[in-house]
Amino acid sequence: MSASVAGAAAASTADLPDVPAGFVWGTATAAYQIEGGAGEDGRGESIWDVFCRRPGAVAGAASGAVACDSYHRWRDDVDLIAGLGVDAYRFSVAWPRIMPTGRGALNQAGLDYYDRLVDALCERGIRPFVTLYHWDLPQALEDGGGWRTRDTAERFAEYAGLVAGALHDRVRDWITLNEPYCSSIVGYAEGRHAPGATEGHGALAAAHHLLLGHGKAVAAIRAAAGPAARVGITLNLSPVVPATATDADRAAARRLDLVLNRQFTDPVLAGAYPDGLERLYAGVSDFSFRRVGDLRRIGAPLDFLGVNYYYRLYAADAPHTEPDPARRSAADIGVRQVRPAGVGTTGLGWPIEPEGLHDTLIGLAGRYPGLPPVYITENGCAELRDEPGPDPERIAFIAGHLTAATRAAVAGDGLDLLGYFYWSLIDNFEWARGYGPRFGLAHVDYATGIRTPKASYHWLRDRLRAWRKRTRRSDP
Ligand code: FCB
Repeated sequence: MSASVAGAAAASTADLPDVPAGFVWGTATAAYQIEGGAGEDGRGESIWDVFCRRPGAVAGAASGAVACDSYHRWRDDVDLIAGLGVDAYRFSVAWPRIMPTGRGALNQAGLDYYDRLVDALCERGIRPFVTLYHWDLPQALEDGGGWRTRDTAERFAEYAGLVAGALHDRVRDWITLNEPYCSSIVGYAEGRHAPGATEGHGALAAAHHLLLGHGKAVAAIRAAAGPAARVGITLNLSPVVPATATDADRAAARRLDLVLNRQFTDPVLAGAYPDGLERLYAGVSDFSFRRVGDLRRIGAPLDFLGVNYYYRLYAADAPHTEPDPARRSAADIGVRQVRPAGVGTTGLGWPIEPEGLHDTLIGLAGRYPGLPPVYITENGCAELRDEPGPDPERIAFIAGHLTAATRAAVAGDGLDLLGYFYWSLIDNFEWARGYGPRFGLAHVDYATGIRTPKASYHWLRDRLRAWRKRTRRSDP
């Protein structure tokens, strides 16, 4: 028996860790990845609809036009969630369904979809966690400059307030943005995601305006939803490890950490940009998009922080691809990412390193005094097999990461870990990688839309039942 198969077998009988009663177990999806219904009920185009039409942008020339057809099959999704026995479901609202051009009046037919979904979740006792922006910017706003412009931050806050006003009687938990690093650096600097730009100044402006939009949305949600609302943001965070102990690789790791992690965590959690960010981008941007008062908004107190963790990063020093700073993209920071030797990987080739989750959580608590309570809002494992068969690697992945996270929660002074959401409920459209990678607890047959629970779904359901029995018994 290989080590990984033995590990998976041991994990499949393992109990869930002894987190306290009240811990929130959940699973997550995002609008563009599951809904389909692209042209229905007045939905406008998003930057992903347009990006998917660009030749070569997405594997297999795929798009989210149909995806898992959750726009029609949402009842199946709710049945799956209820059957799994989790407490909460994190999904996102598609901005272009609510405001087809990103501004102006609310499109009631689009809102009705989420209204029905929220009702169905509440009827089954499932707590909705609503993400307001999971990457699907209305194309009309992109045509006016997108996140490069300050106006988009204003429009986002307006939209967030409208949605909160409409759903706050049943939704308490709000996530403003999902992974602003990806929306800015991957979308506007690397060009691997929509809108597919490769810019320097523009990408850094996008990062700032996303954060500003977050800060303004926090205020708009609180104003519309009242004191019961709990508002947070979801960041993708990874420890960055130098590939070797050389000074050059250590410096490369610090650069990547600045751009990936601290460009976002410092403003949100400490109300300041990290030292070194402006120096790193000298010649690329003059940061003229920052205005007095912005950081105060961006650093507004939050009720929770959402952490998405997938893998640890290893950085080696590398020459800049573009020697002239004025023409450099914000992704070109003189760093090459390398694969760690001897580390197992998921079907996508992502290193499996639960310790990285532990280190991320401990690192946050150490760096930011008064850290808000934390939810792990995404963590998951992909396979490339198109079958609902056994998925022992997913079971081992979940068990390993939960163990690491709860170890951090016990050890981490100042860390209040409130919950864990597995990514994802169902296989879905994995952005530029199309439909190849499958992250779901349930398999989706894309030809028929049929969902079939995998072994990991049954495993998690049974472990949750056992955990509930245990924690009920130990309740005072
Ligand atoms: C995260 C995204 C999510 C999903 C996972 C695999 O970066 O937030 O939508 O694609 O990766």
